[in-house]
Amino acid sequence: MRWQLQLRSSPRNPIAYSPKASRCQRGTAVATLMTDASTKVINRDFSAVAEPKRMQPALGHVVKQDSDMVHKRLRRSTPITVATLNDVRTMFTSLLHEYAYWFDESWVTGTIPPELYGTYYRNGPAMHVANPRYRRHTMDGDGMVFSIAFKDGKAYFRNRFVRTKGFLKEQAEGRPLYRSPFTRGSYDGSTRWFNPFNLSFKNVANTNVLPWAGKLYALWEAGLPYLMDPTSLDTYRESRMGGQIRSNTFAAHYRIITEAPDETHPPANIAATAPPRYQSQHAVQQPHHSHQHQQKWRDASDGAAAGAATATCVGADGRRRLVAFSTEYGFGGAYVVFYEFDESGKLLHETKQKLSGVDIAMIHDIVVTEHYYVLVLGSIHLDPFKFVSQYALGLCSIAEVMVFDPKLPTRIMMFPRPGRPSRKALTPRVLTTDPLFVFHHVNGWEEETADGDCRVVLDCVAWDEVSFDMSFFDKHSQRVDNFVGGSRMQLTRLTCDMDTGAVERRKLLQRTVEFPVTDQRVTGRTHGVFWCIADAVDHPVLWGPPQGVLRVEVDPGHDLNDVPIPSTAARSRLAPPRPAAAAVRGESACAASGVAVDCWYFNDRTFPGEPMFVPRPGSSREGDGWLLLATHNAETEKADLHIFDAEALSAGPLATLHLPHHLPVSLHGAWDPTYRGPDPHDPSVPRWQELGSAKPL
Ligand SMILES: [Fe+2]
Repeated sequence: MRWQLQLRSSPRNPIAYSPKASRCQRGTAVATLMTDASTKVINRDFSAVAEPKRMQPALGHVVKQDSDMVHKRLRRSTPITVATLNDVRTMFTSLLHEYAYWFDESWVTGTIPPELYGTYYRNGPAMHVANPRYRRHTMDGDGMVFSIAFKDGKAYFRNRFVRTKGFLKEQAEGRPLYRSPFTRGSYDGSTRWFNPFNLSFKNVANTNVLPWAGKLYALWEAGLPYLMDPTSLDTYRESRMGGQIRSNTFAAHYRIITEAPDETHPPANIAATAPPRYQSQHAVQQPHHSHQHQQKWRDASDGAAAGAATATCVGADGRRRLVAFSTEYGFGGAYVVFYEFDESGKLLHETKQKLSGVDIAMIHDIVVTEHYYVLVLGSIHLDPFKFVSQYALGLCSIAEVMVFDPKLPTRIMMFPRPGRPSRKALTPRVLTTDPLFVFHHVNGWEEETADGDCRVVLDCVAWDEVSFDMSFFDKHSQRVDNFVGGSRMQLTRLTCDMDTGAVERRKLLQRTVEFPVTDQRVTGRTHGVFWCIADAVDHPVLWGPPQGVLRVEVDPGHDLNDVPIPSTAARSRLAPPRPAAAAVRGESACAASGVAVDCWYFNDRTFPGEPMFVPRPGSSREGDGWLLLATHNAETEKADLHIFDAEALSAGPLATLHLPHHLPVSLHGAWDPTYRGPDPHDPSVPRWQELGSAKPL
């Protein structure tokens, strides 16, 4: 589930300035990004933004005594305008029709790589309630899964609604019938008795998609998965994955890890005295079916590669594993259940853990390391006063009853994974750090320091503080000053010292980012590169919706700990405020040392969704492959699917597939190396089919 946020633009960023021009709108300019190795030129449309000379100089002093005036000036200065937000709003419209078609050659700019073989799936809310009598938050829309299957340089598209029980019943009735977690008030807009204790929300199956063991599931974190046909996208039923899921929920986020090959498992007698570690070489092997990471198990004492395999634990066989989780809340307390499945879909491990001291928590994502499941519990709690005074009256959604508490530390909860090759006997750990909140993690891993200490490193997209006011992505209520100051999504590294319990927190990029993805073959191990979408502003105070895509390279040999995290106030002094053009032309304003960024912007009216990395067949190098990225074009109100060389975003797309319609607003997707389309050389396959449609509500 993608929770949407209203950011408070409190007067906490006390720098005043007044650049005259502030709109990224037209013309052509060239902006550059500094990296460690080189300056990369990117195409960016920034000419209408002020050149540096057009800026008024920053006042150069802190105006603490008149922060209201400061924020007035900032609001006038933001490059995000009402026009931008109107463009963003065009993303949140229903897609009522379902299609199946080949991409005609005339719809493709560039060349689809002929080696690109497999199927890209994505899920997102596609049924938005348009009737003003009813209330439904855009993120509560019914899920629609689309697939684009690639083979021989051809691409085949399908899209289908996830036909959940609630979707079918509402379609039959022609009106909303169910409550949803982000939506305020009653489902039909009535003022009848509002029962706040009815927490049976509709499973909209709209957040993520899981292709696994030849099956396809649509996921929504407050309910069970929906089983779909991976080729036709027909919906079968709500699923407990063959009876293996006993909980009534299944998180929308999961991790797919690749166990070390059998021959690199440590002998048990060595593991008992010398904890093994994986030493990433930033290269991966790609065997026939599984993506095995080229990491050598090494004896910590001499660094020599281990000998023949002796491990016998179930699943430690060098194949991929699906790691997922459920959360359970009730009068008995809060629990989380972890699962590990093998590639045949068989449940290998189920581990249930109590979340001590937790009433309710929004745990959206998980990190898996060699020995731990890691959850980051943000500084939020359920506000009973708000429940009674607002939710009980239908004035806020159940999601909004969860409030950020700056006095509550963030808890990093680590639970031992069963059956690890090292056979280390570990106990759950809870480390705390200053308040923050995380929806999405990049990745995490364990490492040993030079002096032998063990630490767990987590890269995540973190907010310093959040408010679960659901109006942020409501198509009618987003405002320009949402993007002035306050907390926002920033790439953050949490380094957890497992010996002392201390947690170091570092910002790696100034830019606002979201939807990070890695090369899945290094999940749970040190990564050197990842991709995410980002704003076009790159500014200490001003920011905006995602308008670009980044490749972020992190030097694994660089000690990032020498980059301190500035406080909110100090961060606003990192660099003089400047408009977007200057920000991207400058010192990458600002990446931590050891972090290099390569980026691509389309234009000011194009908004990207989550990227998807696809490894190049036969390549063993981390990050060698393609990046798939679907975008929404507000001018045409249609979608494009771009294929980049994942190592050269600033070179622009290798190919762009122009869809003849828009796509549901982006949430999460997955890549399946299996081709799920028709034979591209079969002339009997219709080039275009309409599969069905749904009634608007
Ligand atoms: Fe998510």
